[in-house]
Amino acid sequence: MSNLEDLKADVTRLLSEAKDAQAVEQIRIRFLGRKGVIAEHFSRMGDLSPEERRATGAALNDLKICCEKKIKEAADRFASGRSRGDAIDVTLPGRPAHAGLTHPINETLRDICQTFRLAGFDVADGPEIETDWYNFEALNVPADHPARDMHDTFYVKMEEDGGRREKAGEYLLRTHTSPVQIHVMEKQKPPVRIIAPGRVYRRDDDPTHSPVFHQVEGLWVEEGVTLRDLKGLLEYFLKMLFGESVRARFRPSFFPFTEPSLEVDMSCVICGGEDHSAHCRTCKATGWLEVLGAGMVHPNVFRAAGHNPSKVTGLAFGMGVERMAMIRYGIDDIRLFFENDVRFLSQLSGGT
Ligand code: PHE
Repeated sequence: MSNLEDLKADVTRLLSEAKDAQAVEQIRIRFLGRKGVIAEHFSRMGDLSPEERRATGAALNDLKICCEKKIKEAADRFASGRSRGDAIDVTLPGRPAHAGLTHPINETLRDICQTFRLAGFDVADGPEIETDWYNFEALNVPADHPARDMHDTFYVKMEEDGGRREKAGEYLLRTHTSPVQIHVMEKQKPPVRIIAPGRVYRRDDDPTHSPVFHQVEGLWVEEGVTLRDLKGLLEYFLKMLFGESVRARFRPSFFPFTEPSLEVDMSCVICGGEDHSAHCRTCKATGWLEVLGAGMVHPNVFRAAGHNPSKVTGLAFGMGVERMAMIRYGIDDIRLFFENDVRFLSQLSGGT
């Protein structure tokens, strides 16, 4: 009898060690086969007394049923593709569902817009395919103006215009969001307080320039708006986006559509503007990052949009969203934003 108990233990142990369905089948043949271990025990029962035979027969039957059950279970386990090693562990925590993320450019764009909304600005929109007039002429950039060189422009042929407007240069992909200034002023009397986020296009392609990128334009036209408002507004904006400790620096610059014109730098968020020892790659050890173009709206721009420049003043500014995002997330190659590798994007985006 104890011999039979050992047999049962052997079967259990061998099954637990079986690596595949074939191994289980071999165990079945060894114990339950026609010439198997259990069959052999049955055949030896003729030597026993009737009482012993009854007891042994019952025990052997039990053993046989028990082995059949265990072997079938093991075979089923392999048949359904699950070995003992990777059977379902119901105590494991569930896998989180993969939720979509906001693209870092959209996230930055959203935060920029939100900051200006809090300051009373509305969001305006304009077309991406523009005319020469809106993109350049009305913004005080005449045809031979050297500033056009900075905006290496994509020109568009509009075939569906019946050939009437086929002349090269008639339409173009806007090179900045400034034409929205004109569209808005044409439609709306002062006070005007808008920002205009959107895509812009230039024939540029390198680690810090993409042929398509995003800008946010700002325009505030009202009687009595001054350069002081411009400085205060942009300083507020930079502190909201990058934190209270950020400082703003205003440098004289030139844009045809503003006078005076400024370039706005912020203290480097990576080294805090403290590291002038050639270590900081982000600000190239200058302590400052150039982030905005700005100025007071040029009288010619007011005239082009049908406003009297002696009645109103206005401030305008423009910024590159990718540049803001690169600073914000410490990225040094703009192309990473557009390759859309989820492994990269999901490191940056915090929320939904
Ligand atoms: N449009 C300018 C650019 O693309 C930025 C700018 C906007 C400058 C408004 C001054 C005022 O570089």
